[in-house]
Amino acid sequence: MVKVGIVGYGYWGKNLVRNFNALDNCELVYVCEKNPSLSEKCAKLYPNLKVVSDYEVLLNDDSISAIVIATPVDSHYPLSKLALEAGKNVLVEKPLTSSVEEAEHLYSLAKSKDLLLMVDHTFLYTGAVQLMKKKVDTKTIGNLQYIDSTRINLGLFQHDVNVLWDLAAHDISICLHLTGKVPVSVDAIGVSHTPNGIENIAFLTLKFEDNLIAHFNCSWVSPVKIRQMLIGGDEKMILYNDNEPTEKIKIYDTGFEAKTSEDRRRMLVDYRTGDINVPKIQNNEALSLMALDFINCIQNGGTPVSSAELGVTVVKILEAAQKSINNNESEVLIQNNESEVLMK
Ligand SMILES: NC(=O)c1ccc[n+]([C@@H]2O[C@H](COP(=O)([O-])OP(=O)(O)OC[C@H]3O[C@@H](n4cnc5c(N)ncnc54)[C@H](O)[C@@H]3O)[C@@H](O)[C@H]2O)c1
Repeated sequence: MVKVGIVGYGYWGKNLVRNFNALDNCELVYVCEKNPSLSEKCAKLYPNLKVVSDYEVLLNDDSISAIVIATPVDSHYPLSKLALEAGKNVLVEKPLTSSVEEAEHLYSLAKSKDLLLMVDHTFLYTGAVQLMKKKVDTKTIGNLQYIDSTRINLGLFQHDVNVLWDLAAHDISICLHLTGKVPVSVDAIGVSHTPNGIENIAFLTLKFEDNLIAHFNCSWVSPVKIRQMLIGGDEKMILYNDNEPTEKIKIYDTGFEAKTSEDRRRMLVDYRTGDINVPKIQNNEALSLMALDFINCIQNGGTPVSSAELGVTVVKILEAAQKSINNNESEVLIQNNESEVLMK
């Protein structure tokens, strides 16, 4: 039985506590929360758990083999580092860290200690993303041409990270999972409408080899909540609307064929608009599947779907996006474990 401690009982930590507490193959022992009113609520709701405010208690308890970190992004690195150094397997909330240097350090620390480091990119465990992955892998939609996502709402302004680190982390993880590819370059633009200078609207573009392009529109200042992604293949196109309660995925038998006419300067385009297929989607709670993946990989070995490698790449892209914003939308190359800035 894997014994687990969770640190952070805020907005997202509550969901993790509920899910880990319900799993059969692990025992949630501790919740560590430094806010007394939240820890009181947790203790009332879960009398079976030890609720503490000192992280050291979890680190020093040898019976605890896994720590789950659900605290703000700027604390992910120090808390994960301490946990790995104490010999604990670590599941950390997305994004893994707030810099590539920190992410790579945690990655090699976990490797050197033969411990599992995993990042909670929850969307990878949703029925919708699992189904899209199947459609992409089996080439049901042909060869991928583009991913175009809008993730906007009147959202919670974060104090430590901008809107890309908060929202695009989801889109990037889905994009890396679906394509299985690392982009060649990244460019981004963003603006802040608050005195702290943290961007609350940003647009991010990833360019891949073979003319594959991905674009993410992220905002905390939209009057409406939109969670929509288009995945375009050269045979079919998928519309993924995460706000839809049941019909989240629609597969359009839509495409085009471009031919050069005899007059070589003119191009002829044949359009095809066919049926729309609405597949049934598994409705399991993604967070529960994510938690199960973490525990199963600790018990049986193997690589989780939301791996540390994917988590590090997400941070690489986010850091490159920040560089691009800071350099007036310059294109930032992602290459051989290094990114370098190219001015446009
Ligand atoms: N996977 C997802 O879909 C998803 C969704 C929302 C948030 N998140 C992530 O979850 C993390 C937390 O976000 P949130 O919105 O829940 O934040 P939050 O501020 O609501 O909660 C964080 C909690 O951690 C506690 N805390 C911080 N440092 C601590 C320490 N050293 N010891 C004990 N308690 C400590 C704080 O008191 C707070 O209650 C972030 O990394 C965020 O990106 C992920």
